[in-house]
Amino acid sequence: MVKVCDDYLKLPGSYLFSTIGKKVNEFSVANPDKKIIRLGIGDVTRPLTPTIIKALHDAVDEMAVAETFRGYAPDLGYDFLRSAIAKNDYADRGCDIKDDEIFVSDGAKSDSGNIQEIFSKDCKIAVCDPVYPVYVDSNVMSGRAGSYVEKEGRFDKVIYMPCTKDTNFAPEIPDENPDIIYLCFPNNPTGATVPKSELQKWVDYANKIGAVIIYDAAYEAYISEDDVPHSIYECEGARTCAIELRSFSKNAGFTGVRLGFTVIPKDIEFDGVKLHALWARRHGTKYNGAPYIVQKAGEAVYSPEGKKEIRGLVDYYMRNASYILEGLKKAGYTVSGGVNAPYIWLKTPDKMTSWDFFDYLLNEVNVVGTPGAGFGPSGEGYFRLTAFGTYENTVEAVDRITKL
Ligand SMILES: Cc1ncc(COP(=O)(O)O)c(C=O)c1O
Repeated sequence: MVKVCDDYLKLPGSYLFSTIGKKVNEFSVANPDKKIIRLGIGDVTRPLTPTIIKALHDAVDEMAVAETFRGYAPDLGYDFLRSAIAKNDYADRGCDIKDDEIFVSDGAKSDSGNIQEIFSKDCKIAVCDPVYPVYVDSNVMSGRAGSYVEKEGRFDKVIYMPCTKDTNFAPEIPDENPDIIYLCFPNNPTGATVPKSELQKWVDYANKIGAVIIYDAAYEAYISEDDVPHSIYECEGARTCAIELRSFSKNAGFTGVRLGFTVIPKDIEFDGVKLHALWARRHGTKYNGAPYIVQKAGEAVYSPEGKKEIRGLVDYYMRNASYILEGLKKAGYTVSGGVNAPYIWLKTPDKMTSWDFFDYLLNEVNVVGTPGAGFGPSGEGYFRLTAFGTYENTVEAVDRITKL
């Protein structure tokens, strides 16, 4: 008889956003007259911009003609996109990353979930707490996380690095040395960032102990402060220890289009094996490349008009972020994030648990956010609101919350 993979059975409950969806659905069925405002899931609401739409249309037309039709894309991405990324995201920021160190993909969720495959099952992972759930769950599925300890809300083989008010929501170097360190800045869910000097400490630490940093920079476009690094490769020595993940979802609104990339410098080597070669082998075996049409849209993101339009999208969402941040602050809430990230992290009032506050907001003002506890034990007592709604809905949601 078939046996299922035991590791999958170690995952507790359902995916956070399925639970939220279920609760909201039940509320909406019971209260059909209520207008629910969703500031929970980190999905964008603005449409794709004209330059992107034109690139998509043009690429579709090319597919209709024998001479310009394209079949399978190159496994690692088309050269036109890889060179646009290398120039704009790296060379222009003074980072030494070559075109062929960039692996184009269908997004940072897949890459952040799949990247663990190229490491031994014995590797110990360290994650921020709270954390984007994909890093932990993908390691659970592959048998690297150990068993779930229900009363602590953690897996016993994972090193959790608490990111609390006392640490400015940034992790501190753990007591036990990990092999793989997941970092995400600007951070989901807390919206926190670290200055370059702080990130440099992590790079130095990883190089010293022979660890790899998996650096998720999906929200890079939201950075507004000068001393916050846009890429880990701004740090000296990152070429020998850091993998960087990027996405077109949050800057250009590609959540439904699907495009991202992973950078693996050829200098990262353990026991004579280059991680670059392993990931290339994995990509070649399991992935047939992001669609030509989508990669052409990605290229258009780097055109002068594309850049201007994408700036407009980010500014739109950041106006929402400021409205939430300032509105809640004025109403007496303790809030952070929202300056270099589209997430606002607020302390629940009156010592409410984060799920109690979720229910309270849903029932009293019909606003949906995300309970911090869903991101890890240190998220308890916190709540995430996203800036990805429409401006009108954001204003209405904040006004409703602040009148409570
Ligand atoms: C930290 C982080 N990484 C990756 C992703 C997923 O990005 P993509 O849409 O490119 O799969 C998200 C989406 O919410 C995220 O918050």
